[in-house]
Amino acid sequence: MDFSLSDKEQKLWDKAKAFTMEHITPHAIELEKRNEFPKDVVQKAYEAGLMNLHIPAEAGGPGQSLVSETLVSEATGYGDAGVATTIMCNNLAFAPLVIAATIDQLKTYVRPLITGKEVKFGAFCLTERVAGSDAGAVATRAEKDGDEYVITGMKCFITSAPQASLFTVFASTQPELKNKGLSVLMVPKSKAVKIGLIENKMGQKNSVQSEVIFDHARVPKDCLVGKEGEGFKIAMMTLDKTRAGIAALATGVAQRAVDEAGKFANIRQQFGQSIGNFQGIGFMLADMGARAAASRQLTRYAAWLADKGIRNSKDSAFAKFFAADAAMQNAIDAAQIMGGYGYLSEYPVEKLIRDAKLLQIYEGTNQVQRVVASGNILKECANLDTGFHVKYDGRDAPLM
Ligand code: CAA
Repeated sequence: MDFSLSDKEQKLWDKAKAFTMEHITPHAIELEKRNEFPKDVVQKAYEAGLMNLHIPAEAGGPGQSLVSETLVSEATGYGDAGVATTIMCNNLAFAPLVIAATIDQLKTYVRPLITGKEVKFGAFCLTERVAGSDAGAVATRAEKDGDEYVITGMKCFITSAPQASLFTVFASTQPELKNKGLSVLMVPKSKAVKIGLIENKMGQKNSVQSEVIFDHARVPKDCLVGKEGEGFKIAMMTLDKTRAGIAALATGVAQRAVDEAGKFANIRQQFGQSIGNFQGIGFMLADMGARAAASRQLTRYAAWLADKGIRNSKDSAFAKFFAADAAMQNAIDAAQIMGGYGYLSEYPVEKLIRDAKLLQIYEGTNQVQRVVASGNILKECANLDTGFHVKYDGRDAPLM
């Protein structure tokens, strides 16, 4: 078993970390105060080749692995979770297209967005007021009209929507079929695509989420991705991949909390010695370090499975909930170790707490991840022979 990164991955990891050190970490608090879309830093990330990594080479993209994407997410998440979410938003928006669109569709609709001088954005439009965790309850409609689809409905909490040039929209083509009637369409920006309320969040302020209203938006029928009715499965397959990206971002936050608290525990003197020498603090640091390390391994394993073409629903759910919980716990523990300095907005840790909270909520709440994980475990155990044969409730446990 070899845990090392390939030369290409190592170079990308080093580049993403150097980029974060120069362009994100020192500016994160100031950027947050501006509370606006961090266009300049994201433009630089685009020019540095840190975005759109998963677009296949045949469609004009870098054709890199999911493991590579997670490296960029962890490195940039270490600097600022909001900026990292903005850098990653195209991964989510374009993943359904990479999964199910034809190369010709990718060339027509995605290549122009990833090959120009200026950074362009896509927006993943699944969530609605009535369809959050229950993603199959999407009410937005896509109705066939001759050679076009007409899209009507409203999405909410959509990342980078005000900046987006292309919207990946999950809409119902046959409402009576519920989640089996959902389809995916690419919808280019137009007057019929309107931006509604821009959300005011407690953290991750360097990413923007808003409502998107599709007011009879017309698109040619070749904007349908895959077949009608495949939308829900494409959404789930997308999230299997992109949840590893959120887990990576969370790993970055968890590691940042370890590093800030560890630095402080060395410097801060009380009772004539560094506070890190007290076991109460040292044991907290040990637990925090282990959480960050375990998050990294779960994340890279989930991404590696996807790169091998092996279904990773359970493992990406494990990675997402574990790493998001680790980020939250580590941020809180870092604040505790740093005392007053952990609570002040001039220092980085109170922001980590606010930023980490969203990691437990978006791209499927951590409760949804546990639903996915436990569903898979129950399936795996249904006919499992553990070697210990016993009757439960008077019944033999079924054997394989
Ligand atoms: N791959 C392929 N197929 C899958 C699948 C997967 N990972 N998961 C489910 N399916 C299939 C099932 O096999 C089933 O197919 P059949 O009917 O043919 O057997 C079908 O999809 C329905 O599956 P379920 O019965 O499990 O579906 P459900 O309605 O119970 O929902 C859920 C399951 C896991 C709760 C799902 O709805 C879910 O993930 N919800 C959370 C949605 C989410 O993550 N939203 C985040 C939006 S993006 C965001 O937050 C980012 C931002 O920009 C802010």
